[in-house]
Amino acid sequence: AEERTELIARIKRLLKERDAVLVAHYYVDADLQDLAEATGGCVSDSLEMARFGRDHPAKTLVVAGVRFMGETAKILSPEKTILMPDLDATCSLDLGCPADEFAAFCDQHPDRTVVVYANTSAAVKARADWMVTSAIGLDIVKHLHEQGKKILWAPDKHLGSYIQKQTGADMLLWQGSCLVHDEFKGVELDLLKAEYPHAKVLVHPESPSNVVEQADVVGSTSQLIKAAVEMDADTFIVATDNGILHKMRAAAPGKTFIEAPTAGNSATCKSCAHCPWMAMNGLKNLADVLENRGNEIHVDPAIGKEAVNSINRMLDFAA
Ligand code: 13P
Ligand code: SF4
Repeated sequence: AEERTELIARIKRLLKERDAVLVAHYYVDADLQDLAEATGGCVSDSLEMARFGRDHPAKTLVVAGVRFMGETAKILSPEKTILMPDLDATCSLDLGCPADEFAAFCDQHPDRTVVVYANTSAAVKARADWMVTSAIGLDIVKHLHEQGKKILWAPDKHLGSYIQKQTGADMLLWQGSCLVHDEFKGVELDLLKAEYPHAKVLVHPESPSNVVEQADVVGSTSQLIKAAVEMDADTFIVATDNGILHKMRAAAPGKTFIEAPTAGNSATCKSCAHCPWMAMNGLKNLADVLENRGNEIHVDPAIGKEAVNSINRMLDFAA
């Protein structure tokens, strides 16, 4: 415990010395989320992380999350130094959408507007017309559909089919998935809801359709936390990475949050839904990268120059 307190103090000191700010995602270790808030950084969903990093005057951003979040920060602010506690923290959606295969897919469908999820490599974003996050993907596709555009969507098939159903847009879907959210089970969720008939169900749209269909609210991590605070209910079943429960419980004290079931016929799985790559971020490696200025994110400037257009389209739309 003492070591933890010492590490936290060391990180606070180093952030000041390095003119660095900590930008964290809701799925990382609770101590890192609290540190980000306590030191003038931010803890948020991936859309707000991108905006915060772009707008903050600090010369160094430390991104506690997964690689695509660090790359997005670098693409938006090439002049800043972007550090990450562990550069191997990737994402199954990014891994499942290699840039060369994706480019070939796009080449086969030149008539389609290419919309990619933030959870992709810089090279995939460079090939896209638009990048979106879960907070705003639905609105952007609705807008494109109203303009008569046909869409090529990658990589998350569940988010893609959710948006397709909501908007009626013509969408050709890459078949990727998130290894965490793909595990949520519709039948078991239905059983759990019967045990808690008054509970509201909060679902991240990377989940399978038979889970999304049972949701009271579908949204990004920030949107789900907002719903937990604002909805008039005292019990919530939550289908997203359980790292989010730290913030939900802090933001809505007195309310009860239950993890949605994941594996097999167990309705009581307590810690299945946690991203192994988000979990690579800890106090120790955060302190070390600040100390040594190690683990810097680099993006090929030529790729960055292309990728920034698809990200800026989203940010301009959101503004
Ligand atoms: P959010 O943009 O909702 O924070 O999601 C990012 C992510 O990786 C979800 O698994
Ligand atoms: Fe990627 Fe899923 Fe982890 Fe989010 S939770 S970073 S989508 S693997």
